[in-house]
Amino acid sequence: MEITASHPLALPVGVTLDRYIMHRQTAFPYATGELSQLLRDIALAGKIIHREVNRAGLIDLTGGMGIQNVQGESQQKLDMIANIRFCRALKNGGEACAIISEEDEDIIFTGNNNGKYVVAIDPLDGSSNIDVNVSIGTIFSIYRRVTPIGSQPALSDFLQGGRQQVAAGYILYGSSTILVYTTGHSANGFTYDASLGEFILSHPDIHSPVDGQIYSCNDGNINSYDQGVQDYLTSCRKKQYTARYIGSLVGDFHRNLLKGGIYLYPPTKKNRDGKLRLLYEAFPLAFLAEKAGCLASDGQQSILDIVPTSLHQRTPLYIGSPIMVNELLSHLQ
Ligand code: AHG
Ligand code: MN
Ligand code: MN
Repeated sequence: MEITASHPLALPVGVTLDRYIMHRQTAFPYATGELSQLLRDIALAGKIIHREVNRAGLIDLTGGMGIQNVQGESQQKLDMIANIRFCRALKNGGEACAIISEEDEDIIFTGNNNGKYVVAIDPLDGSSNIDVNVSIGTIFSIYRRVTPIGSQPALSDFLQGGRQQVAAGYILYGSSTILVYTTGHSANGFTYDASLGEFILSHPDIHSPVDGQIYSCNDGNINSYDQGVQDYLTSCRKKQYTARYIGSLVGDFHRNLLKGGIYLYPPTKKNRDGKLRLLYEAFPLAFLAEKAGCLASDGQQSILDIVPTSLHQRTPLYIGSPIMVNELLSHLQ
């Protein structure tokens, strides 16, 4: 059942996330509450990371670890801390039987083999912005496991495909902290009120504009993009669209979701698969985007139709207002 903002069962702006989750659960007579608990665990980890992010400069949490993660990218202290916090919250919560994270090469087994769900996370997105006080985020994706409950989870639990997600979302630690998620119906945003320690419904039933005038990509890579992408960007400039690129996917995505726009991370000459990770960046944002009326493509197919083959695989990503994404795709043909 879809409960949109105008539905009589819809809750008003201002209710807490906990109450909202509980209320939604009652709309599904057979729901047992495990997914609700898992979402609460993620929100709790988000609150902890909000706290760490906000005092990072004071307690020496900025800077690098001097090591690289599985992606060959330099790991920041907050990357590690966010990863630890999330994994701990999910392990303690008991609903997730396994996790994959950008920061760990292999599946993380939580030991809760009776848990029904697996979670894919980018614990801290936008690492290069940590030290300079610019918006960063967390991205998450939740699947119902396909291996039998009680057994050891396996790779197949994570390689199900984007349309099998049961919930997905992100937390943006920006000028305020906001959690946006969907369980496959509407997309809703909850702004964190630190004085109450609660996420409060602030953006119910998000519908993104069908068209926009913002384009977001790393302009420094432009000579490395395929001709079709370059042509599209030229057309954006001719129309005097606005260029906005934070370098934190979550931040760029969130802005474009609310205002209308397109985010592009195309293949480059060096990285023919692009840079972004399918399972914990592209899939969750694509799932959420579609619920809010946006499109997400890798240039050939809908992101959600990609059949995943490995945990950390990359994909090109074009995501945002449907008219803009379709126009871009017309340049690629
Ligand atoms: P992460 O910090 O999780 O590794 O992700 C960084 C991603 C994404 O957030 C951002 O849009 C993109 O990398 C920026 O890449 P460029 O610096 O190549 O533009
Ligand atoms: Mn990321
Ligand atoms: Mn990350």
